[in-house]
Amino acid sequence: MTALACAGDDYRSRVVIVTGAAAGIGLATSQLLADRGAQLVLVDRSGEIEGLPDRLAGGVQRHLAVVMDVCDQTAIASLVHQVQARYGRIDVLVNNAGVALLEAAAEASSADWDRTMAINLKAPFQLAQAVLPLMRQQAYGRIVNLASQASVVALERHAAYCASKAALVALSRVLALEWARHGITVNAISPTVVETELGKQAWAGSAGAAMRARIPVGRFAQPAEIAQLVAYLASEHAAMITGDNILIDGGYTAA
Ligand SMILES: NC(=O)c1ccc[n+]([C@@H]2O[C@H](COP(=O)([O-])OP(=O)(O)OC[C@H]3O[C@@H](n4cnc5c(N)ncnc54)[C@H](O)[C@@H]3O)[C@@H](O)[C@H]2O)c1
Repeated sequence: MTALACAGDDYRSRVVIVTGAAAGIGLATSQLLADRGAQLVLVDRSGEIEGLPDRLAGGVQRHLAVVMDVCDQTAIASLVHQVQARYGRIDVLVNNAGVALLEAAAEASSADWDRTMAINLKAPFQLAQAVLPLMRQQAYGRIVNLASQASVVALERHAAYCASKAALVALSRVLALEWARHGITVNAISPTVVETELGKQAWAGSAGAAMRARIPVGRFAQPAEIAQLVAYLASEHAAMITGDNILIDGGYTAA
């Protein structure tokens, strides 16, 4: 077996890009990986991201915040350039930024469809393409894409969202197939409702109560529970897992 730069889930020599890091699952993931020693590149369109490096274990000495829209291809190129200049490597890309613009299919607007696909599907693809040269050069990489249970089941008012997440899973499989030979794994994670701003907005009121009642464990997920799986898939331990879509749904899709 090849000697690796660090053992198991020790992230001290690892450089991790997390998109949508200012809130919810992205924030929980960043906190967990910082606690485990990773150097984080925290990406978000919200200016709130600028204060985050200081609040994470390791502080501004180790982490970098970048305010950008993940749909901006020029910003993606400059992000990778900046990360390469500062750290010299990119080990993990967590494509977490996403939106849920919910409308009944009959009324859904073309603009919301395009925005959903741009953020949830095209941006993860373009970010993956952008980090590929460095990961290939290192012969090591981990790409984790935040999909959703909506990738495998139908949810009312989620036409664009379900389509974007199912396509993200399909994309993950193709990248896994093509890039395994470079030591790069690509996986998707599909949570049920997670108690974040996005989750609370999408599942407020009676729709949320009905959804919770259909989850066998009887509750929604917490961001920290999703972060644990991201950390595992991002670790060296997960070298044999690629092209997968792992559900964290409290049994919702088992029923
Ligand atoms: N919360 C849930 O119930 C749930 C369930 C399944 C999957 N997911 C997925 O998990 C991911 C994270 O969701 P969350 O609940 O933490 O969301 P959230 O809304 O709490 O946080 C998302 C973060 O992404 C950032 N962001 C959004 N669009 C961006 C863009 N274009 N460029 C840069 N940053 C952008 C936001 O500013 C925000 O900080 C999403 O892909 C979502 O689809 C969430």
